Amino acid sequence: MNAQLIVPAAGQGQRLGEGIPKALVQVGGEPILCLTLSRFDSLGLLDSAVIVITPGRRAAFRAALDNAFPGRDFHLVDGGDERRQSVWNGLEALGPSTEVVVIHDAARPFVSRECIRESISSAQKHGAATVAIPCVDTILQAGDSGFLESTPDRSGLWACQTPQAFQVDVVRAAHVKAAQGNWTATDDATLVHIAGGDVKLVQGARENIKITTPGDIAYVNFLIEHGERFQLNPAAAERS
Ligand code: CTP
Ligand code: MG
Repeated sequence: MNAQLIVPAAGQGQRLGEGIPKALVQVGGEPILCLTLSRFDSLGLLDSAVIVITPGRRAAFRAALDNAFPGRDFHLVDGGDERRQSVWNGLEALGPSTEVVVIHDAARPFVSRECIRESISSAQKHGAATVAIPCVDTILQAGDSGFLESTPDRSGLWACQTPQAFQVDVVRAAHVKAAQGNWTATDDATLVHIAGGDVKLVQGARENIKITTPGDIAYVNFLIEHGERFQLNPAAAERS
């Protein structure tokens, strides 16, 4: 089975507010993107990886990658204004023999190898899969005026994560429909679902956080520093 990785890393990181693309912000002394990529190395998914980068910042991305992965020639493509456009540009760069594509946000450096493996095998079987975790918080649906409108039953609610994995034809067809219908979604499994496809949920982990706000940097640095204890340090995980 031929699987290929796409890492959307083209966001601006506005909520983080560092003034540089979020993927290049350092945690534990390394750019977030490089920590995230290191999770995929032992699975053999780095050699053909497509990394979607912030337009105009190619030299900075190339320098960070050369420093962390000397001698490796990543395929870099420019992203778009929306994540959906960035992923589409990545899909356009896939090799002709790729059967399953794994899409994983650069902003999630603590993904486990088990999740990656399971999302790939679920996509092979069902066409599409996303990692997700059962919601621990009660979710409130607010109305326009800021008052509580409804409280969905938490038992059926999951929080979406990445990786998401797809048979290539399935995700391509969903993106074509999404572009035609101008659908907005912040993930690709939702596009497949709106297009009528089945999406299998794969159990993720709370630690697989998406670095989003300044407080997340402090938390992630803590996890890296104490990673041996929590089995979360990407470098330590690679060694284990
Ligand atoms: N992403 C992308 N292209 C975009 C927007 C987002 O490739 N136009 C990527 C980001 O780089 C990130 C992932 O999608 O790895 C999830 O997006 P998010 O966490 O929202 O990151 P940013 O868009 O960078 O952050 P913000 O929304 O705070 O600006
Ligand atoms: Mg964003």
